[in-house]
Amino acid sequence: MNFHILTLFPEMVMQGLSESIIGNATENGLLSIEAINIRDFTKNKHRKVDDYPYGGGAGMLMQAQPVYDAWKSVADKIGRKPRTVYLTPQGQTFTQQMAKELATEQDLILLCGHYEGIDERVLEEIVTDYMSIGDYVLTGGELPAMVMVDAISRMVPGVLTNEESGCTESFEGNLLEYPQYSRPEVWQGKAVPSVLLSGNQKNIREWRKEAAIERTKERRPDLYEKYEALDRCREILKKQKLLHIDMTELIARGQAELVYAKGATICLFDKVSRIYFHTTDVKEIGCLALEAIKEHALTHAYQGIADLLVLHQDFMKPYAEETLGLHEIMVCKQAVYTRKEKLPITGLYRVDGKDAEDGMVMIRRIGKEYLDTVVAHYHTIDDPAYIIERIEKGAMYGAFLGDELVGFIGTHGEGSIGMLEVFQEYRRRRIGKALETYMINLALEAGQTPFGQVAEGNEKSFRLQESLGLCFSKADVYWMEKK
Ligand code: ADE
Repeated sequence: MNFHILTLFPEMVMQGLSESIIGNATENGLLSIEAINIRDFTKNKHRKVDDYPYGGGAGMLMQAQPVYDAWKSVADKIGRKPRTVYLTPQGQTFTQQMAKELATEQDLILLCGHYEGIDERVLEEIVTDYMSIGDYVLTGGELPAMVMVDAISRMVPGVLTNEESGCTESFEGNLLEYPQYSRPEVWQGKAVPSVLLSGNQKNIREWRKEAAIERTKERRPDLYEKYEALDRCREILKKQKLLHIDMTELIARGQAELVYAKGATICLFDKVSRIYFHTTDVKEIGCLALEAIKEHALTHAYQGIADLLVLHQDFMKPYAEETLGLHEIMVCKQAVYTRKEKLPITGLYRVDGKDAEDGMVMIRRIGKEYLDTVVAHYHTIDDPAYIIERIEKGAMYGAFLGDELVGFIGTHGEGSIGMLEVFQEYRRRRIGKALETYMINLALEAGQTPFGQVAEGNEKSFRLQESLGLCFSKADVYWMEKK
């Protein structure tokens, strides 16, 4: 991942980010960090970059021209308009979830302001996100930029040596991290909790979960409230486990924001895909939840959301049409892998990194170099722009025979497995089964429940899922989109 920091103090930023984990990741080529001195772009002969604000008022403003030219030098190099974050106390508060999401960008520009801010016109032109690191005012955007680079970098795969430590920690699913202990077993008369010495992984997991809950309750009651509310929802949703797998997985994966809950009427917003999920047992209360979505979408409207909604009851369709102006685009059944054991891979794909000599595919994550091939072969309902986004997010995997890509699969933003395609000339060789098996095992490794959604009429997909032992929801789910 490449960070481009636009600043008046490049040395300050570079020094702060050249040590320890971030410094190592830069040396290893996992990250690149460059600081661009905005002053180098001024056309003023005294190298001035600031001036008085029109209309009067305290302090000086950074002028539009040098900021724009510094930004453009990066945008031209990248070859497109990159995500550009302006660090300002007026922005959205930066969270772990945002760090995770930004870590999937290839390039990120961070714009650091100084003095009283920056001329509004250039911000309108270049900024895609306004972010703050907390409700206090600093003298400039450099420290916030450094904070963000640190938090985002550690979510880039490979930056933390133990891949796990990036996700089983504070803020995952609204819980703080559990306490940790190292040698000696007894220090100043205090012993390490005995369960951690027991070697029983199941008991250790349970103890840690409980300790995380206790700690959150005590130290961050605000977070605990969110955790508890979602946990209650999960209990209710679990009563129809297969039908609600999309919603329970959102909660389990820490992506869910609760929009509405009353009895068995629950509405979640997926912070990653920005899709709403709705379920109910009573039409009238279901309609109240739709109103809550409308309200929620309005307050988040700057990001153009409420475009997609997943309903879990057909009787809600006319109300979703009326209240939110949505129409049905797809009817699906949930397909859920309900077991904990991984699927056998013998005869399906190789994992040893060697080329296949015996007709067996290799499966690995694919990057942008396969964009054209993937788009050329893809022919389901999603538009190519979406597939491009999924490749950029590192969510697509390819099956290879030698160096040749012969099929692909991926995960959607909300977590379901999909987008399976095996190229015409390679069908009937169990490559689809290999790809599906790979994704199921990958999800299991991450502690998730693998699931997909099979569109009505897609008999081939139904047969494949069935052959792998997936269970189907009896009822359908309905994808609704803005008209
Ligand atoms: N610039 C000044 N204060 C800031 C803050 N709290 N967050 C981000 N950028 C800032």
